[in-house]
Amino acid sequence: MTTDIRGNPLSCTDAAARRLDGAIAKFHAYLADPIADIDALLAEEPDCVMGHAIRACILATTTDRAFDEELRSSLAAAQRLAPRANARERAYVAAARHWADGDLQAATEAWGRIAIDHPTDLLAVQFAQLGDFFLGQSQMLRDRVARVMPRWHRDMPGHGFLVGMHAFGLEECGDYAAAEAAGREAVARNPQDGWAAHAVAHVLEMQGRAAEGVVFMNETSSGWSPDSMFAYHNWWHLALFCIDRGDIAGALRLFDERVSAGGFGQALEAIDGSALLWRLWVLGHDVGDRWSRVAPAWSARIAHGIYAFNDVHAMMAFVATGDDAAQREVVATLERAALGQGTNAMMSRDVGLPLVRGLAAFGQGDHAGAVAHILPVRGIANRFGGSHAQRDVLSWTLCEAAIRAGDAPMAEAMVAERLALKEGSPVAQGWAARARTVKQPVAA
Ligand SMILES: [Fe+2]
Repeated sequence: MTTDIRGNPLSCTDAAARRLDGAIAKFHAYLADPIADIDALLAEEPDCVMGHAIRACILATTTDRAFDEELRSSLAAAQRLAPRANARERAYVAAARHWADGDLQAATEAWGRIAIDHPTDLLAVQFAQLGDFFLGQSQMLRDRVARVMPRWHRDMPGHGFLVGMHAFGLEECGDYAAAEAAGREAVARNPQDGWAAHAVAHVLEMQGRAAEGVVFMNETSSGWSPDSMFAYHNWWHLALFCIDRGDIAGALRLFDERVSAGGFGQALEAIDGSALLWRLWVLGHDVGDRWSRVAPAWSARIAHGIYAFNDVHAMMAFVATGDDAAQREVVATLERAALGQGTNAMMSRDVGLPLVRGLAAFGQGDHAGAVAHILPVRGIANRFGGSHAQRDVLSWTLCEAAIRAGDAPMAEAMVAERLALKEGSPVAQGWAARARTVKQPVAA
């Protein structure tokens, strides 16, 4: 029987299986370019169902409508070939189908089930973790990896990637010491493991260890940056450390040279572009014409609500550039999505719409309105996915909005939260100083 490198069954030829192993190994490290490798394989072996299925799964987890047509064509090819596929391969096809149909939960559980049935199927674990990430399911980021670990041992190919995935899950669950140890171990075993380095970056971000973060990212970047499809996000993390150190010029340089290097050709890159500039813009820093590099990426995607998390980051660009028409279009997209079916309907209704209304209010100078919209949602914002570090932009915006609104108790409360986590941060201390000058309005 043909199997992958870890003994999981495949219905294709041995030669195709080895080429799939190569493409999958790149995907584990987010190295360029597994899709190109699979395309080359499929050009020679068009009946390789797993090639089509994996291609569909990778494209699905970009959360980007720009790849929708390609996703659907891979899915159609995989479904055509499914009758001759094995059960594991058919399960991959079903997972991609669920995702394409907008049921992110069902897709994630489908990948999770593959990993339960085939605990050494690292690719299924990875897709499930991506699903849990986009669903904001912290516990599952950890436990879906932990549940397969007893069936692994250190010498199995890809074990380091499993440790790196576990590190990220541990971090999102707040187990920072274990997460850091696992992440550093995985990076030491494979310096190209950008996801493991990313897990360490998250620990340092959440613990307010920005100075260490700058050192760690710079020391490890020669491993995770070259040929990476994910490096822009690790550079984004470094930019956050720079901001938290008061190095605004350094953060802008990273935007120019690293975060924007791919031209925001995919939504995940544009998220980081928006999230970085928004933090700076909210603080009142001059970001020059940089929004004009991010906004077009969102304009091209604005009418295609697929994921509320993306729509909120689109809104940041349109608020900062004062594009009222585009803001209205984002709201309309979310309103349509909220009335639809699937996971994104909930995300749009519960989180996306209140947040874009809050961001719009901020842009209009209605800072009290911004607080009123954003504050009640912050505690449930995990429902629209992303990481704690990404959703921290909400607390960031609330600090600034409360101060600008002249709401002294609210400003004191928001800043107190911040200082408790990041006492040494110049950004937090700046807010604290300004919050102390906010005068409590005299009660009538
Ligand atoms: Fe991250």
